[in-house]
Amino acid sequence: MNSDAPRATFRSMEESTAQDWAAIGQQFAPFAANLPDRVLAHLKLLDGDYGGFPIDRLQHSLQTATRAHRAGEGETYVVAALLHDIGDTLGSYNHPDIAAAILKPFVDEKTHWIVEHHGIFQGYYFFHYLGMNRDMREAFRGHKHFEDTTRFCELYDQAAFDASYDSAPLEFFEPMVRRVLSRPINTVYKAVGEAA
Ligand SMILES: [Fe+2]
Ligand SMILES: [Fe+2]
Repeated sequence: MNSDAPRATFRSMEESTAQDWAAIGQQFAPFAANLPDRVLAHLKLLDGDYGGFPIDRLQHSLQTATRAHRAGEGETYVVAALLHDIGDTLGSYNHPDIAAAILKPFVDEKTHWIVEHHGIFQGYYFFHYLGMNRDMREAFRGHKHFEDTTRFCELYDQAAFDASYDSAPLEFFEPMVRRVLSRPINTVYKAVGEAA
């Protein structure tokens, strides 16, 4: 971030001018280009965060992504697997929404749906131990992405708590994160990025 760069001078957006927005628009591309760094930095906040689980949340994320990668899933899917729990730090009561929102501009609709709903689908494996209904996901039975979300949890997410698993390190996934998060396919700001 360059605090010496030209800045807009308006007091309210109502009085803003094309010149103001040219100054703001110039800052957009370099800021957006650093998104992968911000996301990776935030993912690292999960390091050492066990929350009572057998492995910490960063290791769980790496293991989920590694399992998906080794099973032959595509790059976008693997990045989604890596980031699926990134919302644990700020979204204590709705963590899937955070990852889904971060990924939304960069992934297909199915991958977004899987990430957004993985919490309820994963609940099949433990909600009953917390006095909840393990079949809460049945409310989505028949949805076009029901089976794929069930599969994500079964093969990758619920299976990724093995302390002896040889997960790939974060550095292995970094180039994938950088590629996926630099190709927005679904955003109202797409034209701005292309023009900048
Ligand atoms: Fe999760
Ligand atoms: Fe998870």
